[in-house]
Amino acid sequence: MKTILMVVGSFREKSLNRQLAHGIERRIGDRATVRYLAYQDLPPMNQDLEHADGTEDPVVARVRAEVAAADGLWIVSPEYNSSYPGHVKNLIDWLSRPIIPMDYKTPLPIHGMPVAISAAGGGRKGAGMAEKLTELLRFVRFAEPTQPSCLMGYGAEAMKTNVLTISPEVEELIGAQVEAFLSAIGA
Ligand SMILES: Cc1cc2nc3c(=O)[nH]c(=O)nc-3n(C[C@H](O)[C@H](O)[C@H](O)COP(=O)(O)O)c2cc1C
Repeated sequence: MKTILMVVGSFREKSLNRQLAHGIERRIGDRATVRYLAYQDLPPMNQDLEHADGTEDPVVARVRAEVAAADGLWIVSPEYNSSYPGHVKNLIDWLSRPIIPMDYKTPLPIHGMPVAISAAGGGRKGAGMAEKLTELLRFVRFAEPTQPSCLMGYGAEAMKTNVLTISPEVEELIGAQVEAFLSAIGA
């Protein structure tokens, strides 16, 4: 069974993006194993923490191991100021670093790794986030994010209720993205 690692770009308890991730997980059903990456405790990138005393920060080590064990990463993220949240950048920065000091030749687990981007956003449905995240993922050499991407508007009501409603149209988009991603990871 292939494993998909969900990265929710919001740490908010009632996150609409986490609800979207759960909707995607429901659609995946039993066709792949879905895990959620816990990365709230990841330290801000600091090169002094890399390979300090030959040992790695334990959270960095766990996060790297979880990513390495996955067949693909699915990032479901809000848009912050027309881009991705800073903690998503911090995660990608850590994942982009060599595991052996100064070794820039050995391929990293993220190189060529299938990746998908989804969003529950405001008026622009997270399009600014998706565009900039695609650029970042390309730079650090993930595979090209699968298309189509489910970028949905959460609507004014969800801002008050914190309940995400997935319309039949969005469900269809999720279905198309799930098919593309399962095919990309060979599930
Ligand atoms: C710092 C910050 C910047 C934001 N910038 C944008 C933005 O540029 N575009 C947008 O649609 N929503 C923006 N929002 C609103 C978020 O999309 C909204 O709060 C959303 O519900 C967050 O996702 P979550 O429910 O998964 O936490 C911003 C929110 C924050 C906290």
